[in-house]
Amino acid sequence: MSKSISGFSKLSKSKKIDWIVSTYFSNRKEAKTVLKQYWNTNEKLQQLHDEFIENTITNFYLPLGVAPNFLINKHLFTIPMAIEESSVVAAASKAAKFWLDRGGFKAEVISTKKIGQVHFMYSGGFDTLKAYFNHIKPQLFVNAKPITKNMENRGGGILDIELIDKNHDIPNYYQLHATFETLDAMGANFINSCLESFANTFKTEVENYDDLENTNIDIVMSILSNYVPECLVRAEVSCKVEDLNEDANISPQDFVNKFIQAVRIAEVEPYRAVTHNKGVMNGIDAVVLATGNDFRAVEAGVHAFASRNGSYSSLTHASVEDGIFKFWIEIPLALGTVGGLTGLHPLVKLSLEMLNKPSAKELMMIVAVAGLAQNFAALRSLTTTGIQQGHMKMHLMNILNQYHASDNEKIVLIEHFKTNVVTHNAVVEAIENLRR
Ligand code: MEV
Repeated sequence: MSKSISGFSKLSKSKKIDWIVSTYFSNRKEAKTVLKQYWNTNEKLQQLHDEFIENTITNFYLPLGVAPNFLINKHLFTIPMAIEESSVVAAASKAAKFWLDRGGFKAEVISTKKIGQVHFMYSGGFDTLKAYFNHIKPQLFVNAKPITKNMENRGGGILDIELIDKNHDIPNYYQLHATFETLDAMGANFINSCLESFANTFKTEVENYDDLENTNIDIVMSILSNYVPECLVRAEVSCKVEDLNEDANISPQDFVNKFIQAVRIAEVEPYRAVTHNKGVMNGIDAVVLATGNDFRAVEAGVHAFASRNGSYSSLTHASVEDGIFKFWIEIPLALGTVGGLTGLHPLVKLSLEMLNKPSAKELMMIVAVAGLAQNFAALRSLTTTGIQQGHMKMHLMNILNQYHASDNEKIVLIEHFKTNVVTHNAVVEAIENLRR
């Protein structure tokens, strides 16, 4: 039976665990053991993790894998990926190797503009508001100087602030719509601090402005937008159609035809587009997570971008022209390689070092490539062998672990399933036969 508690956050970690296990678990000892076996024996490291969030009771592990052989703009990368789904890293590695032999990936950052908004209500005339905005705009920059000074010294800062009339959507609703360049930082704290400074100046300075007929400016909220269609990166692969000749069961031309049909279907059919893009995000999220970036922000922004024309559509596109197959992705990615977790989490630091300490722009390209590679691998399987063959092969280990297979049993069964179709039932049967 669940019960409420007050002052939980003030309890010590062990008291929090006591409360959790006594409230929710019949076998308290076992629950405690499970929680504690994920504690790090290095107390400093554990404390670091405890302090990332509130009410930490243990760590939640994800495997960190690597996909080698990614040739991006002529440089070789081994890409770190934090993900639990069994086939993703294998698929990325396979796609990387495939394109390594065909010139690799090309990537470019198209733009790096980020956005934030002060949302406010005002009931007077727009012309007067506009005049006040034009009058106060320089002051918005000046008052935010303590926040922007360092960023400006490095070449970034506030790019512009506009007044937007949203009165037609909600009566009396307006925005200060600001654009930012945050260089190697994801910039969420920088942008939000600037916006709160704008809001404060905009609200308080109105008292000293005689011409505004209605001084009642009501700030609703100030917050960055995770929709960043002007923080855009493009990655592509291309080769002669005849060079797509890996699979003896299908000709390169037939493969390309099917592949392009699969992409077209994802361009026009939202049910398919969502799954298609989920495959893209398998690659993107895994690298975003491994490099300490905010995958929820990336997810939200990318899916909004996928619907920008009014219908949810594919993030990737493909063409054949003059015998050349081309496959590409264009996505918005607001990433950072300084600040946040990047200097704090030891595995994030390690991942960034493995990637040669990239700038945010370089990381945008690497992440976009990981998404494109993942989608290529998925479409290649889907349009040839079907997805289950590879998936179930990778899932075999999960089923073996579920049935507590010993190391020896694993060796025998992995060998067995090299030539037999993996299904849940077939694996269970094979384990039972072996144990008989
Ligand atoms: C599974 O995680 C991802 C796929 O469903 C993607 C796709 O269908 O393109 C295989």
